[in-house]
Amino acid sequence: MTHTLVYPITSLHNSAGHLEIDGCDVVDLAAVFGTPLLVYEEETIRDQCRRYMAAFREHTDDFEVIYASKAFSSVAVDQLVMEEGLSIDVSSGGEYHMARVAGFPAERIFFHGNNKTREELEYALCGGVGSVVVDSFQELALLEEIVAGRGGSQRILLRITPGVEAHTHSFIETGQVDSKFGFGLADGVALEAIREALAAPHLDLVGLHAHIGSQIFKLDAFRRAIGILVKLIGQAHAGFGFECRCLNVGGGLGIRYTVEDAPSSIGDYATVKVEGVREEMAAMGLPMPRVLIEPGRSIVGKAGITAYTVGTIKEIPRVRTYVSVDGGMSDNIRPMLYDAQYLGMLANKADEPADTKVTVAGKHCESGDILIRDAVIQRPEPGDILVMPATGAYCFAMASNYNGSPRPAVVLVRQGQARVIIERETYADLVAKHRPLRD
Ligand SMILES: Cc1ncc(COP(=O)(O)O)c(C=O)c1O
Repeated sequence: MTHTLVYPITSLHNSAGHLEIDGCDVVDLAAVFGTPLLVYEEETIRDQCRRYMAAFREHTDDFEVIYASKAFSSVAVDQLVMEEGLSIDVSSGGEYHMARVAGFPAERIFFHGNNKTREELEYALCGGVGSVVVDSFQELALLEEIVAGRGGSQRILLRITPGVEAHTHSFIETGQVDSKFGFGLADGVALEAIREALAAPHLDLVGLHAHIGSQIFKLDAFRRAIGILVKLIGQAHAGFGFECRCLNVGGGLGIRYTVEDAPSSIGDYATVKVEGVREEMAAMGLPMPRVLIEPGRSIVGKAGITAYTVGTIKEIPRVRTYVSVDGGMSDNIRPMLYDAQYLGMLANKADEPADTKVTVAGKHCESGDILIRDAVIQRPEPGDILVMPATGAYCFAMASNYNGSPRPAVVLVRQGQARVIIERETYADLVAKHRPLRD
C-alpha cells in the first residue's frame, strides 16, 4: 500500500511498533544505511507535483509549475519532478549543472540569482537555458553583451521587488523594499529596467517575476504582490508598449512543521495566484499572460524525514534534559538560522506514548546547535532512532561539513524499496580536495 506522509506521523507504525514509511521500516533503514539519514517518500513528492498541476489546470491551460530546486537539489529528485511535468528553477551554475545531468531539457530551466557570474551565465547559455530571470542592471548589460557575442536572442524575465511584507521570518522574506533581490518600484527603477530590457537587441523580455518569501501561510500577501506587479505591467504597457506574456508569481506556500502550523491548501493558493492575475489584468484591459509559479518547500518539505541515533543523554535536574544525536546543524541549519520549529519522535518506539519533554541537541561544538527545544517524545535511551519529520526542504540543501562531518546519505523509498540517491560522504571525501603543505 502506498500512502503519503501525514500528521501525526506517529500513526505510521508497523506491527513491530516502528515508524514505517511507504512499506519501509525506518529503524531498518537506519541499520542498513546508517545515521544521520535523510529519507524521502517518492509518492509524497509525486503527489505534491500532481496536486499543483491539477490545481492550476482547474483555472487555466496556460501555466507552468516550476520546481525551485534550491529546496533540495539532487539528480534523482530533479528527474522525478521532470517526470511529473514540472519545469525547474536553478539559482546557481551548480544547480543548473545538476538539472542538466538529470536530463532536464534546457528550455524548461529558469536561471535565478542576484549575482550570477559571467562564467555561470555563459555555461547556462551555452547549454541553451530557457529563461534567465534578470536581477540587476549590471546583469542586463552583461547578458546583452554575452548574447550579442554569441549571436541569437535570450528569453528573460525581470525580477521585481514589489515591496510586500510576507508575514514570515525576515531571512526568508524577499519581496520587501529593503531586499538584495530584484528591481524595486521606488523611483521608477523597475520601470526603467523594463525599458532597458525592451531596448536590448539580443534580449527577449517575456515577462516579470516576483517571489515575496517562503513558508507563507496567509495568501493575502501574494494577492497584494500580484496587484502591484500588474500595475507595473500596465504602466510599462502604456509607456513603451510592453506586452507581458509570462507572469512568474514565485513560490512561497508554507508547510506544516508543527501541530500549530496551518498552511493554506494548494487549491486556495492556485485560486489566489491565477484568479488574482486574471482579475488584475482584466481590470487593466490587458490579456491574460501565462502564469508561472515556483514552489520548492511545498514539493519536497514534508516528503523528507531525518533519522538520527541518540547518543548521550544529559539530565540537568529542574532545568532540562539534553538528548544528543549524531547530526545537527551540519545537516539541518534551519533551527539555528531561522529559529525553525520541528517535532520529534522515536522511530523504534513509535507505538509508545510521547510523554517525555527533552531538548534535542546536535553533536557540534556550538551551544546553539539545538535541533528541537522542548520536544515531547517517547522516553529516550541511547541507541534509539530519533526522527524529525518535514526535513525535506532547505536541510540537505544547506548541509555543511562543519566539524568535519561527512554529509548524510539520502534514500528514496517507494513501496517497501529504498534506493540511495545521494551516498553518504566519507572521511576520504572530506580531504579529497585538500593538498598538503609540502610534497
Ligand atoms: C526566486 C525563488 N523562487 C522560488 C523559491 C521557492 O520558495 P518556496 O520553497 O517557499 O516555495 C525561492 C525560495 O526562497 C526563491 O528565492
